[in-house]
Amino acid sequence: MTDLTERVRHLLGGPSPLPLTLAGDPVLRTPAEPYDFSLPAADWADLIAAMRATMHAAPGVGLAAPQIGLGIRVAVLEDRADVAPEVAEQRQRYPTPPRVLVNPSYQNVDEFEPAAEFYEGCLSVPGYQAVVPRARAVRLRCLDENGRAIDEIVSGWAARIVAHEIDHLDGILYLDRALTRSLATTSNLLDHWAGQPLSRIRGVLRF
Ligand code: CO
Repeated sequence: MTDLTERVRHLLGGPSPLPLTLAGDPVLRTPAEPYDFSLPAADWADLIAAMRATMHAAPGVGLAAPQIGLGIRVAVLEDRADVAPEVAEQRQRYPTPPRVLVNPSYQNVDEFEPAAEFYEGCLSVPGYQAVVPRARAVRLRCLDENGRAIDEIVSGWAARIVAHEIDHLDGILYLDRALTRSLATTSNLLDHWAGQPLSRIRGVLRF
């Protein structure tokens, strides 16, 4: 049995949902290793299922393997986009079906477009959110869970999720890209800023 198989079996034999690694854990700051599909098929399927269950339980819309302590270039995402219609429109946030990204990379598309600026959070930095400017579309290249090559343009909120998760695999946290003066606890965002335009928040918090 390979080291990875042993580690995955150990992990999956533990608590469910899987415990999440938090900011300050070295695994979140170390570029992850390419995944070579060396896991036996059943373990691979179990790992993906456990990552999805952990993401849903959090709840979150994406989860990268380093967030469960595995330094391999694998992430899962799914966005049911359960938000009010005006929020969906503003964020270009529409349902994204479940998918697995293996050995992914992304490039920003149309760097000359103004970036999209929205509050964003991370399961590994619980309780906080900050504004992160991101490209409105990215070119995603990866393999799917069956090893099939994907090369596509992803836009809107899904582009933000893709970039956030792939950044995890490169040892990058959203705070590295955030407007740090925008940092807010999630409860302060709700108490002070629910439904307010970003321009107003920006004016008061001065970011
Ligand atoms: Co995250």
